[in-house]
Amino acid sequence: MAKPVKTFSCTACGASFTKWSGRCDGCGDWNTIQEDKGISAGPPSKSLGARRGSAVQLTDLSTEEAPPPRSHSGITELDRVLGGGLVPASAILVGGDPGIGKSTLLLQAAAHFAKAGLKTIYVSGEEASAQVRMRAQRLGLSDAPVQLAAETNLRDILTTLDKKRPQLAIIDSIQTMWADNVESAPGSVSQVRAASHELTAFAKRTGTSVVLVGHVTKEGAIAGPRVVEHMVDTVLYFEGERGHQFRILRSVKNRFGPADEIGVFEMTGKGLAEVTNPSALFLSERGQPAAGSVVFAGIEGTRPVLVELQALVAPSPHSQARRTVVGWDSGRLAMILAVLEARCGIPFAGLDVYLNVAGGMKISEPAADLAVAAALLSAREDAALPAETVVFGEISLSGALRPATQTENRLKEAQKLGFTSAIAPAGGKTAAASGISLNTMSDLTGFVGEIFGA
Ligand code: TYD
Ligand code: MG
Repeated sequence: MAKPVKTFSCTACGASFTKWSGRCDGCGDWNTIQEDKGISAGPPSKSLGARRGSAVQLTDLSTEEAPPPRSHSGITELDRVLGGGLVPASAILVGGDPGIGKSTLLLQAAAHFAKAGLKTIYVSGEEASAQVRMRAQRLGLSDAPVQLAAETNLRDILTTLDKKRPQLAIIDSIQTMWADNVESAPGSVSQVRAASHELTAFAKRTGTSVVLVGHVTKEGAIAGPRVVEHMVDTVLYFEGERGHQFRILRSVKNRFGPADEIGVFEMTGKGLAEVTNPSALFLSERGQPAAGSVVFAGIEGTRPVLVELQALVAPSPHSQARRTVVGWDSGRLAMILAVLEARCGIPFAGLDVYLNVAGGMKISEPAADLAVAAALLSAREDAALPAETVVFGEISLSGALRPATQTENRLKEAQKLGFTSAIAPAGGKTAAASGISLNTMSDLTGFVGEIFGA
């Protein structure tokens, strides 16, 4: 008989290995490799391949058959992030830090979908049904026709789902589920992978939309939902700073809609409230124009969003100057500092640099480059930018400015919020935004000269 083959995988990134090691070659984390138990042991089954699949010509598929209709929760911010509603038979992962509000969001979503006529079941592996009911009461949703189950055994859950055949099943959370044919503890990669696989397969087989909730821990102590990301159709991340009331639901992968779409919520005493005008919210804490503060006109998914960038530049008491970034990429900050130094002759050596995106927002767009450069210069020169001005544009290593996508939408949003001027790279399409005075530049040196007179 063939010797059982041992396999190992990383609890942080899910990479597979044939032998144990202290450090994962995939993600570089230490002490994250664990043995996979009960999955690949034993020879492959003889029956594999006995049933042949059949393929059809793409052209033979009927084009008249309309795609299955999407269901709408009525929570606009959620429906948009899903790509315009919930697709039947889809598997969705909602990841986020513990305590950020995933259970609250999904209980509200369950209640809304149920009220909209979808047969919905909410399976909690973390709280008893009575606790979930109490939470629903607090959220003012106790009259919603949602079925509750407090269950962690995967087999029992699948039996329940098979019997009830809901249109939407929410599994909170995937880390608490355990399959009795897998030996390792709940939360381990093998368990998370097995449970996600079974539940995703169930969605495809029956047409039930399945939402898996996953906790992300930075230490990777519990299997990160990254293992699950490849298996599902849609990956949403629920982010935000604990100290802020804003929460952002972001699609990082979506087979049925645009990725990078965001939905903005506010955590209130009565659960999550939709924020329909995020720009106004992100700018609400902005005071008088101050040195280091710049408003960036960004695009998140299909929507323009204005956010305030704040920079602080001060002589460093340390031998190595600090670079601290919240809400933006620190590598990108280093690049902007290098370009300012090399192309414009403005050194930041010996200066501590702090950059913060206000409101707990995270920005990944390269179009924020110019706004970051403006904030850094404004802080360094202790000179505020002209009032009511937005800034956007990408900076290349040569110091040239590249036009951003959707210039018109950015300008329209700025105009809507009362901004009167914009600084942007030359070359963007700007025809429709006539009510805002646009100051275009083609390189960073020109920008520095014109705005800061340096
Ligand atoms: P929860 O949904 O349990 O987080 P997760 O499932 O991601 O771990 O939310 C936890 C936090 O949300 C908790 O600290 C309290 C807060 N909260 C409110 O502020 N208002 C509310 O109405 C509810 C239900 C929770
Ligand atoms: Mg929870």
